[in-house]
Amino acid sequence: MKSNDSVSKYPGQTRLALRNIDEIDPHKIGDYIDRDGYLALGKALKMSPDDIIKTIDDSGLRGRGGAGFPTGKKWSFVRAAQGDTKYVICNADEGDPGAFMDRAILEGDPHSVLEAMTIAGFAVGATKGFIYVRAEYPLAVSNLEIAIKQSHGKGFLGKNILGSKFDFDIELRLGAGAFVCGEETALIASIEGRRGEPTPKPPFPANSGLYKKPTLINNVETLTVIPMIILRGATYFNTIGTATSKGTKVFALAGNIKNGGLVEVPMGTSLKTLVYDIGGGAPSVFVGPNKVEMKRAVKAVQIGGPSGGCIPASMFDTGLDYESVKKLGAILGSGGLVVMDEKTCMVDIAKFFIKFSVDESCGKCVPCRIGNRKLLGILEKITSGKGAESDIDELVNLGKTIISTSLCGLGQSSPNPVLSTIANYRDEYLAHCGIKRAEGSGVQGVTPWCPAGVCFKKKAKYCINEKCISCGRCAPICPVNAIHKEGEK
Ligand SMILES: Cc1cc2nc3c(=O)[nH]c(=O)nc-3n(C[C@H](O)[C@H](O)[C@H](O)COP(=O)(O)O)c2cc1C
Repeated sequence: MKSNDSVSKYPGQTRLALRNIDEIDPHKIGDYIDRDGYLALGKALKMSPDDIIKTIDDSGLRGRGGAGFPTGKKWSFVRAAQGDTKYVICNADEGDPGAFMDRAILEGDPHSVLEAMTIAGFAVGATKGFIYVRAEYPLAVSNLEIAIKQSHGKGFLGKNILGSKFDFDIELRLGAGAFVCGEETALIASIEGRRGEPTPKPPFPANSGLYKKPTLINNVETLTVIPMIILRGATYFNTIGTATSKGTKVFALAGNIKNGGLVEVPMGTSLKTLVYDIGGGAPSVFVGPNKVEMKRAVKAVQIGGPSGGCIPASMFDTGLDYESVKKLGAILGSGGLVVMDEKTCMVDIAKFFIKFSVDESCGKCVPCRIGNRKLLGILEKITSGKGAESDIDELVNLGKTIISTSLCGLGQSSPNPVLSTIANYRDEYLAHCGIKRAEGSGVQGVTPWCPAGVCFKKKAKYCINEKCISCGRCAPICPVNAIHKEGEK
């Protein structure tokens, strides 16, 4: 499989999870084997389960699905859990807007996921695995089906794998596009044929998961590096990254960025490197009949999807690791990075993500079902020019309440885009409410105003005619940047 994006060839990458992407034909198991595929499985089957888990633990690998939970620890919980029947689940439900890391791995290197799940099954004592993959990824589904068949043919799946007396098999389950089904307890309900709604934790899936049996759930990117860690050892992985965030992370660069696509860098790489050195910054726009180039500056990145937050360009020295990003009110999440230029309205962005959470809330718990709807209502009021400063305070109070009272991770993180944009762009919220911070101290009243020129478009109509007084208000909302001062290009 060849990816067409330009950043995938960026030389400063450390490609562990993406090591085989573009290098192998995912339909040919021989290609995977030629690149050391299934060697780790052979090695693991000769190790003790405890030694496998220790190797994963020593590597410092943390879950790439969003929460960053230590993978070795999770495996040890499932291994220690009582029960004859245990399961391994690969979470391939990838639903964050702008994220496509797991998709690339499933489509381009499906055997690495199968090999990792089989090693995991041997380590925790499971003989059955499921890949819960979203139905919107038809190529991933068909490549996985082909890979499972080929793996059976070579004796890497099925009975008595490589003569070890260990049996393991993998089946696919298709998700129907509900974001909440990526949450592990909702995902389990969905596989069982129940409505995809979360359940309170504890019990955790490690003790009572699929069909109430001990279950290991890991993300695609978490799994795909397992064979490499087993083969090359923990040190190979834990010498990359920062003190607490080891290895690499795949990021999906999307939005207002010149070079969009997937890129894999060591944990701790700065946003500056990612956005400017790799991504090339914001693309120019070309306006007017002469296609005059207008350069645009990057304003912020939205990281972590609907659970994440916006980080302003002034903070781009931040290294991308779990702890540093959390300090800024966002989360590393699964790796979606949406870049926004100066023409992006941060209130509008917050509204977009809350609308997403309203649409995707399963409705089971009140704070998420009603609270997010209320947040959206306030944001709609503000972006239509009818808001007041007290509405901003209400967004903060309500957001904090939703976080502390929701049942699952969806509600517990959905207000983050609102809270982080208020923390970093309060002046933009104030402008929408008709309040402008005066030069010295205090505030003064003005007409509600969208500094990026995104909101109020439908309401305001500006005409340049003989009555024009050059107030300049039409300039930021002109969709093609056609308004310039006299003499300006
Ligand atoms: C609303 C919601 C959606 C989620 N979606 C995904 C997803 O698409 N893929 C994923 O791997 N984890 C997702 N997670 C996290 C999972 O619940 C779980 O933590 C993860 O699969 C564990 O794997 P890891 O330890 O390898 O990260 C989601 C969590 C929440 C709250």
